[in-house]
This record gives sequence, structure tokens and C-alpha cells, in this order.
Amino acid sequence: MAEKSTTTGTVDVLLHEERAFKPDPNFTAKSVVRDDSLYREAAKDRELFWARCAQELDWFEAPKSTLVWDPPNYRWFEGGKINVSYNCLDRHIQSATRNKAAIIWEGEPGEKRTLTYWDLYREVNRFANVLKGLGVKKGDRVAVYLPMVPEAIVSLLACARIGAIHTVIFGGFSADSLRDRIKDAEAKVVITADGGYRRGGIVQLKSTVDKALKECPGVQDVVVVRRTRRDVDMSDKRDHWYHELISHADAFCEPEPMDAEDTLFILYTSGTTGKPKGIMHSTGGYLLGAMMTTKWVFDLKPEDVYWCTADVGWITGHTYVTYGPLANAATQVIFEGTPDWPERDRWWKIIERYGVTVLYSTPTAIRSFMKWGRQIPQNCDLSSLRLLGTVGEPINPEAWIWYHTNIGGGRCPVVDTWWQTETGSIVISPLPGVTTLKPGSATRPLPGIEAAVLSDTGEEVKHGGGYLALTAPSPSMLRGIWGDQERYRDTYWSKWDLKTYFSGDGARRDEDGDFWFLGRVDDVMNISGHRIGSMEVESALVDHDKVAEAAVVGVHDEIRGQAIVGFVTLKHDQEPSEEMEQILRKHVADVIGPIARPSRIIFTGDLPKTRSGKIMRRLLRDIAEGRVLGDVTTLADASVVEELKQKYDEEG
Ligand code: PRX
Repeated sequence: MAEKSTTTGTVDVLLHEERAFKPDPNFTAKSVVRDDSLYREAAKDRELFWARCAQELDWFEAPKSTLVWDPPNYRWFEGGKINVSYNCLDRHIQSATRNKAAIIWEGEPGEKRTLTYWDLYREVNRFANVLKGLGVKKGDRVAVYLPMVPEAIVSLLACARIGAIHTVIFGGFSADSLRDRIKDAEAKVVITADGGYRRGGIVQLKSTVDKALKECPGVQDVVVVRRTRRDVDMSDKRDHWYHELISHADAFCEPEPMDAEDTLFILYTSGTTGKPKGIMHSTGGYLLGAMMTTKWVFDLKPEDVYWCTADVGWITGHTYVTYGPLANAATQVIFEGTPDWPERDRWWKIIERYGVTVLYSTPTAIRSFMKWGRQIPQNCDLSSLRLLGTVGEPINPEAWIWYHTNIGGGRCPVVDTWWQTETGSIVISPLPGVTTLKPGSATRPLPGIEAAVLSDTGEEVKHGGGYLALTAPSPSMLRGIWGDQERYRDTYWSKWDLKTYFSGDGARRDEDGDFWFLGRVDDVMNISGHRIGSMEVESALVDHDKVAEAAVVGVHDEIRGQAIVGFVTLKHDQEPSEEMEQILRKHVADVIGPIARPSRIIFTGDLPKTRSGKIMRRLLRDIAEGRVLGDVTTLADASVVEELKQKYDEEG
């Protein structure tokens, strides 16, 4: 057994030579979850456990069954009729919560808006009527391409109210990316803005929409939120101002009773091919996962001021900005902008200004703050904070400790939450009142979740490394890939048997059974917590007329977790140059979006391939990270990789 020694009262012990933090009894005494009874209840009868939890939702008609599992498909709460916007709004306005702040919003230039539950309810009802007026019906798709403004949340809830399926596209994606997603989802309406603010500049969302829609004849209407008041082109028939439409809309819209299994939304995420996957989420099961995990993991109580810094364009912005907090009647802060604009104290000022109690953020942000120095947060009053969270990528123990010490003042538990777009809600995470925390470990599966580390051949690895697998479906897991159920089956359910979900992540379990995540094991990169497929960037590179061939890998980056390095072979009449490197980096940003811009391009005469012609990215990763080359015996021509390594090492 490991050495255990208490160093600072109740919270700091050494476990297995790693630091570990036991829950503070004072925190536990007031927690939503105070003991292991939820784990025990779920272990006894998982379905009964989820059925009991589902009673915390308001159903128009109660479900007739809990889980129907027909691998790889599963249906939760069949026969149940429910509306998500009703659960996030209507049920709260029947009590004093009606006057509680739902959203405290700050725009990048500093404007402030507070919407109570009543305000939000009214706005959502009106906008739901606007969408209906545009002919949007249950099951139709609505694309949302907005900055972080309250109207983004309103749009999602308005879709949910009438049973339309929303698909949010992150505002940093290019016109091509937007076009591809709109076309794949066959969206009928697009909701956008005349612009958004970012680091003092304006993101031209509307002109990007105009460009994308040149090739999307199925889009009949565009609703434009007035945000920056800059001039934008408005097409007479197609484009409408949000504020004009809403001013004429009726104040009440009957919430559509949806089947529990109806699709609530599609969210595109990168996979191992060049084409992003439209991950489909259900109505009842998804909402249940979002609501329960928000309450358990963030220990949410009525008096909290909760702040999740994610953009609505990512799954975290769906589950932990929109649905989870609102289903729990939380008060939350929403902000538009970046941590370093106008100054590097933006976040800490917000925490001080609104008395934020729970902060949910990312390792990339934390590592940037570390670099900028602890003096900056120290100049602000962060004493309101009581709980910290992190998500998106593995957090290194140094960053965890820094966050705990400098932001949490040593008193706030840090919950490292592992999950994915596909899981819909948090899967592996501490519960702050009961779990012993270990910096760098997401600890263990939440109640009602079944996860394991498996070997390549599917044996469970109790202590040691392997692949993270989910061995039973939970309510909020994906129901499919839009328009491609075969890919759904192949990607997630074919590695072992049809009942075991393959996450694409490597993980190891320590002697206590706690999970440690090791990053992706497939060709998906994780840049600042955002998934980018190697193949997507490769397609963007070969899309340039001077490029013959390209391979892309993610390499370790101190701040962003990973950075993108491209290996490019130019066409025979082209000469590599620094200028060409800049052109290609920009080209990728133009084609996909700035988040996919490679940090470096290495020109090479050839790429390492197997005899069957498959590019060996593993070896490129070894080269880019300065490691000794792995097994080269399957290469068609081993000299290619030797030369490349020499060149890379020389260039530093
Ligand atoms: O590799 C894991 C990493 O992010 C991936 C999921 O990305 P995405 O679907 O964009 O969702 C991000 C927000 C949930 C995972 O496959 N990841 C996410 N959270 C963690 C993590 N890796 C380690 N530790 C985490 N806490």
C-alpha cells in the first residue's frame, strides 16, 4: 500500500507518491452529494437508478420503459413525452425562481445584460413563434452561427420548444466548414449575427454566412441578431433582423410534447476521416444526463453563481452552459471574448464583479494564466469561489496544483471532468464532496456510468494502460451520426463487441482504480481542448494547388496541449520557402477556421509510407517530438524517414 501522510490538516495526503486531496468535511457537510449512496444505488440496479433520477424531470407523459438495448442501438425512456425548454424554463417560472437571474451576460466590449428566468422564458416563447412563422416545423434543422450572446441560448431553447433540431456551428469556423455542415444537416434556417467581438476586432459572421449559402439552396431564411451595428448586406427575401421579427411575435408558444428519443440536436465533431460527424443527441436521456451531472459534479445550489467559460459552439456550451444549468434553475455568467482582452485579468474581474462561486474552464486557459503569472489573479478578489472544474484535455498535475493554489486559494476542490461530444455529459469525474482528488486524474465513473480500461483484445485492465471503453449505454450518449448509421457502428461499436463503446482515448488505472487519461489513440488531435481530425487538415493542405501530398500530426505543446505540424510534399515545379509555409498555414485557416492553423509546416520530398501506401503518422509524430524512431520495418522505404528526421533535427 502507498505511503499516506497528512501534511496540511484534512486535505493533503500523499497517495502512491502522488499528491492527493481528501474532501474537506466542511465542504462535504453542505454538498449535494455527501456520501457514496448514489454509487451504491446505481451499482445495485442501474436502470432503476436512472428511472428514479428521471423523475426529477417534468414529463407530460411518464416513460413506459427505462432502457431498450438493441446493440449498438439503445433507447431510453420510451413512451415518455417531454419538452426540454419546458424543463429549463416553464417549471421555474411557477415559483419565486421566476425572478432569479438565469443569465448574467457580459459582452467583450463590456456591456452587461441580466435575464431573469421570466425574461428568458418570454424571449424564448417569442422566438419560438418567430421560427414557427418562418415555417420551421418539428424535426426541421436550424443552423446556429452566433457569438456568445444571450440570443444563442434563446435560439437553442426556441428550437427545443417547437421540436426543431438545432445544429450549432462554432463562430470560428470558415465559410466552407459552415457550408458543409449546413448541407449535411439540410438546415432550413440559419441564425447568425451582424458580427461578434474578439480581441477588439469584429468577427464577420454574416458575410461568412452569405458566402456559405451560395452553395446551400435549401436555406430559406436567415435571422440576423444585431450585435455590432455594423453594416451588413441583407438580402431582401431571405434575411430578417431578429429584433424586428421578435417585436411582432406572440408572447406564448405551446411547448411541443416530444418523444424522449426525438433528436434534440446535432453537433458536428471531428473524426478520423476528412468529414466531420454529425453527432445526434436525444431529448429525454440527454437532458437527464445534463441536469444530473451539472448538479452532482458542480454541487449546484440555488445561491451559486456558476460560470462555464465554453463557447456554445462546442458540446460543453450545450450541456454546461445551456441545458444543464438551466434545467437546474442556476444563475450563470455568460461572457463573450477571450481571457486576455482587454487585459489578462478579464476572467478574474468577472469573478470579482459577480461573485462567481463555481468556475468550469480548461487546461489550456490555466496554462496560459500560469505563463502570465499569479500576480494577475492575486490582484482580484476571488474569495467567492468554492469549486473549480476543468475539461477538454488531460490536465498536467502542475497546472492542476497551480489552479488549486492560485485560483482556488487552496480551499476549492478541482473536478477534472472527462467526457466527449458523444457522451453528451460528464462520464468520469470526482464528486467534490466525496472523492479524493489526485492532480491529473479524472478519478472514477459517475454513478450510473459503466466504464473500463480494456486491452486491444478487450480484456479488462484493472491496473495499467489501455483504451477507455464504456461498457453500457448511459442516457445522454449519442444516438447516431446524422445520415450515417454505418459510420456510427463502425467508429464506436466495432472495436470489441457491439455492446462496448470505443472512446478513442488511451487511459490507465492506478492501484486505487482511478482513471488517468493519456490523450487520443486515433488520428484526432486535441488543440486547446478542441478536436481536429488529421485528415481534415490534410485535405485542406492538398486542396492548395501547389501541394502534392500532406500528412499532419499533433505534437506536444506546453500551452495548448497539442499543436499541429504538417509534413508537405510540394508539386514537382515548386520550391519550399518560408513564404510558402505561411501561405499554407493561412490556407488551412481559411478552409477550416483559425483553430486548425498548423503551427509549423515541414517540407519533404516524400512521406513515410507502408508498402500498401498508408502514411505512417506515428513515425512523423516521433520525428516532430524529437523521439527515437519507432518500428520502421513496415516502411516501403526507410531512408525517407531517416532523412526527414535529420532535416527536422537540424532545423530544430
Ligand atoms: O481526448 C478526450 C479529451 O477531449 C476529447 C473529447 O473532445 P470533445 O468531443 O470536443 O469534447 C470536449 C469537451 C467534453 C476526449 O476524447 N478530453 C475531454 N475531457 C478530458 C479529456 N482528456 C483528458 N481529461 C479530460 N478531463
